[in-house]
Amino acid sequence: MRRCRVCGSAIEPFMSFGPMPLANGFLRAEEFASEAFFDLEVAFCERCAMVQLTEPVPPELMFHEQYPFYTSGSTLMTAHFHRLAAEVAQSLAREPDAFVVEIGSNDGTLLQAFSSGGTRHLGVDPSRNVAEAARAKGVETLCRFFDEQAAREIVLEYGQADAIIACNCFCHVGDLHALAAGIRALLKPGGLLVFEDPYLGDIVRLTSYDQIYDEHAYYFSAGSVSAWLSPYGLEVIDAQPQAVHGGSMRYTVARKGVHPARAGVAALRAEESRMALQAPHTYSLFRRRIEQSREALRDLLTRLHQQGKRVAGYGATSKSTTILNYCGITPELIEYITDTTPLKQGKFSPGAHIPVRSPAAFHFDFPDCALLFAWNHAEEIGAKETAFRSAGGKWIRYVPRVTIE
Ligand code: TMP
Ligand code: ZN
Repeated sequence: MRRCRVCGSAIEPFMSFGPMPLANGFLRAEEFASEAFFDLEVAFCERCAMVQLTEPVPPELMFHEQYPFYTSGSTLMTAHFHRLAAEVAQSLAREPDAFVVEIGSNDGTLLQAFSSGGTRHLGVDPSRNVAEAARAKGVETLCRFFDEQAAREIVLEYGQADAIIACNCFCHVGDLHALAAGIRALLKPGGLLVFEDPYLGDIVRLTSYDQIYDEHAYYFSAGSVSAWLSPYGLEVIDAQPQAVHGGSMRYTVARKGVHPARAGVAALRAEESRMALQAPHTYSLFRRRIEQSREALRDLLTRLHQQGKRVAGYGATSKSTTILNYCGITPELIEYITDTTPLKQGKFSPGAHIPVRSPAAFHFDFPDCALLFAWNHAEEIGAKETAFRSAGGKWIRYVPRVTIE
C-alpha cells in the first residue's frame, strides 16, 4: 500500500503512464543502452487532496551540474519574473535592509532585479551549472537543496527573510515536510512566502497531462497547499491565477494570524468545490480524457505519416517526454525536435530517442507540420515563427484537445 507523502493516508494511483525515462534526460546514442526508466504513476489523496507521484525519482538524478533548463530561455517568462520581483520589492519598500531569498533560483533571472537594486538577497539552487550562471550575473547563490538545515545556516549568516520566493520549484521538491520546516525557520514573523507552480485545476480542465513527469512530484491546489502548510503554522493569505506555464497559481503565505486573508483565497476554494477537485471521480474522468487524447494524437500523427508529411516537434520540453513515451511516438512519426537550448541540441529525446536540433535546422528546411510541445509558450513562438506559417506550415496542438491548423 502506498501512503500520501503529505498526510500519511493510504492512496491508490488513478493513472499509470508506464515506464518513463527522466523527463530532462536528453542523451547521446552511446547512452541509450544504460538509460534508466521509472514507473510514472499519479495518485489523489482523499484526505488532504494532494495529487502526487507515487514513486518520486531521487532528486540527485534530476537536479545536478548539467540541469538543462535555463529560466532566461523565455523572454515572456523573464518579463513575468521581473513583474513579480517588482511586486515583492514594492511590498518590502518600507522594510529597512530587507532580505529576499529565492528557492530554486535557477540562473538568477528573478533575483537579478534585487541584486541590481542593491537589495540583500540569496538564491538557493542545487544545480551547479545554473547556479554559476546566476553568480556570473551578480546574484548571490547557494548551491544546495533547501531544507531545514539549509534554512538554519542561512539565518545564522543573513538573518531571517522578509520574503521568500519560489517559482516552479516547490512542485519539484519530494520532501514537502523538510521544505515546510525550512520555510518556518527562515521566514521572519511578519514575512511573506510567495510561490507559484502549475495549477492542478488548469491541468484537469485542459487535460494538460504532460505536466505530469518525474520532476513534478506534486500538483497543487488551494485545498492541498493549506493541508500541507497548516501543521507548520502557515496559512495561505492570497491566491492569484497566472497565465504562465499553461495555468499557474501564485500563493501568498504567512504565519497564521499575522496578515488577513484576501478575497482570492475564498474565491479559489469556491472554484475548487465547483470543479470537484476534492472528489475522486474527477480523477477517473481526467484519466479517461488522457486516454482519449493519446488516441487522437496517435491517429493524427499516423495519418500524416501515411500521407508522407514531414512532422517536427517544437520545444524539447520536459513535458514532451511524457507525451512521446506515453503515446509511443517514434522517430518515424516525428523526424526531430527543434529547441533553443544548446545543452539539448545534438542529443536525443529521453526514451523515444528523437534527435534534437537547433532552430537553424528548422528554419533551413521547414517541415509540413510542427507539433507544439512548448504550448505554454505559444504566444512567443507564434510571433517569431510567422515564416513557417507563410510557408504553409501547420501547428499541431494537443492542449486542450488535439488540433491541426
Ligand atoms: P518549458 O516548457 O519547461 O518552459 O520549456 C521550454 C522548452 O522549449 C525549452 O527547452 C526551450 C524551448 N523553447 C524553444 O525551443 N523555443 C522557444 O521559443 C521557447 C520559448 C522555448
Ligand atoms: Zn494526504
